[in-house]
Order: sequence, then structure tokens, then C-alpha cells
Amino acid sequence: MGSLKGKDILHGNQFSKKEIEAVIKVASEFEKELKKKGVIPLMKGKLLATLFFEPSTRTRLSFETAMQRLGGGVIALGPAEGSSVSKGETLVDTCRTVAQYADVIAIRHPKTGSAKEAADAVDIPVLNGGDGTGQHPTQALLDVYTIRKEMRTLKNLTIAMVGDLKNGRTVHALVEILSLFNCNLYFVSPGVLRMPEEITSHLRQKGIRVEETEDLREAALKSDVIYMTRIQKERFGDLGEYERVKGSYIIDAAFLKNLGKKITILHPLPRVNEINPDVDNYPGAAYFRQMRNGVFIRMALIAMVMGKR
Ligand code: NCD
Repeated sequence: MGSLKGKDILHGNQFSKKEIEAVIKVASEFEKELKKKGVIPLMKGKLLATLFFEPSTRTRLSFETAMQRLGGGVIALGPAEGSSVSKGETLVDTCRTVAQYADVIAIRHPKTGSAKEAADAVDIPVLNGGDGTGQHPTQALLDVYTIRKEMRTLKNLTIAMVGDLKNGRTVHALVEILSLFNCNLYFVSPGVLRMPEEITSHLRQKGIRVEETEDLREAALKSDVIYMTRIQKERFGDLGEYERVKGSYIIDAAFLKNLGKKITILHPLPRVNEINPDVDNYPGAAYFRQMRNGVFIRMALIAMVMGKR
């Protein structure tokens, strides 16, 4: 079993296959146990600090839920306005402060590389909840957990990633993890939002079959899973460019009917318009189950970095 004790969770490429399997195993044990008990008190007397410098609904709340379901407590630092960050305090000083109070940190920050900066500044584990356009490894783990649950395997799947592959940190982390499981990947995006070349070429070097296309239907016909993403409006310097690409890919009930086969649909959420609500009752629509899985994965990660699993 891969041990994550004392480690930071910063990047999708930091894990071995054994470690991923261990996280999935612990998460699925917690999922079963929670159904019976509601709380698994491994973190009694411990505190999680959530430092979120960007908007978040699912990531922050599922981290906080996870810690409380483990019997631990949570302290939260809201957006900059509510803290000394608004007085000009650096991220490093803020994290050093928080490390005096809490036992583990979950952080989201607009700057790529910020989670690593935080981790280097403190002795307690740091869990990256999204660093700019960089990485979002806890999301990637819950995505992989969801794919495995929905498809009953992670091997030999073809997965289409759709939307803003340039700025989307969830896909940047997810491809790293999927690359350990022999998947075939389709990258579907407008030309200006293609997956960064260094990621695509690194995947190909690892022997992963990657095809790029602008045609969602073509990719969907050949895929088992579609992973939709939001066009990341807040990352565009030029809003005119956002206007040109927003709404590039939309899945609705008519699209799925026309596809003529069952497909599994994931989305890290929030969605803007890329999945029509008329898809929500489609059997393969897994995005609500996916967000629930975030609690089990984050419970597993907290317990593991704290040496309790
Ligand atoms: C994503 C994020 O913040 O990167 N959401 C999430 O964490 N569930 C995706 C997004 O904002 O589009």
C-alpha cells in the first residue's frame, strides 16, 4: 500500500498507481462505513484550515464536510477581504500563521504554483484545492473514483475531455492520473483552448493515445466517458475572445438521442450552459454522483496524509 503520511497533495503527477489504488480503496471503505455511521472519528481533536482565495462551492464545502465526518474541526479563511491578505500580507506569512493553529491545510488560490509555495512554507500537509490554471489533484482523484464506480474499471477506457482544456486545472490533473491506467484520450476544444502542448506531448511520450479534434460528436461516438468542462471566463484577458468561444460545446438530450448509444457524462461543475438540464435524468449523467464522491475522496486524503490510514 502506498503511504501518503505527512505528504502534501499538490499535483496529479505525484502519485504512483499503487497510491491511487490505495486512495480509492480507503474512500470506498469510508463510503460504505459512512452510510451506517454518519461519522468516522479518526480526526477527533484535529483541525483543518480551508484557505480559499477564489470562489468555491463544492471543493471547500466537501473538504469541510469530510473533516467533520471524520470527527475533526474546521477553521476557514474566506476571500481576501476578510483577512490580513487585504492589508498586504503574503501568502507565505498567511500560511505560516495558519499552521500554528491547524493540523492540515486545504488551499485554493489564483496563482499557479501557489499550493507548492504554501507547502514549502509550512510543516503540516497542504492539499491543493486548485492553483490558478495549474492543478486540482483532489478533484482528479474524485473524478477517477467516479469513473471507476460508473464504468467498474479504469482500464482501456476512451475518455473525451471537452471545453476549456487550456485553462482548466481539473483536466490538467486528471490526465496525469488517467495516464497510469492505459486510457485513450480525446481532447475536444476550440483551437484557442487546446490542451497545452507540453501536457499532450508528455502524455504521448508515456505511450497514451491522444487525439485532438474540434468535433464533439466524432469524439463522443468513440468514447466511453465524456468529461465536460466550463469555459473559464475569469482566465481570459480578452473578454471578446470569451464571447467568441463560449457555448462552443453543449450537450443536451437531443445530442444524446442522436448519438444512439449510452455514454457516461462527468463535469466537475459549476456548469454554465455546456450541459442542458434536460440531460440531468439521463442514466449516464454522473455529475451529481461525482460531487458526492468528493466527500469520500477528501476524507480518504485527509486521513491518509494525517497517518490514520
Ligand atoms: C472547478 C475548478 O474550480 O477548477 N470546479 C471544481 O473545483 N469543482 C471547475 C471550474 O471552476 O470550472
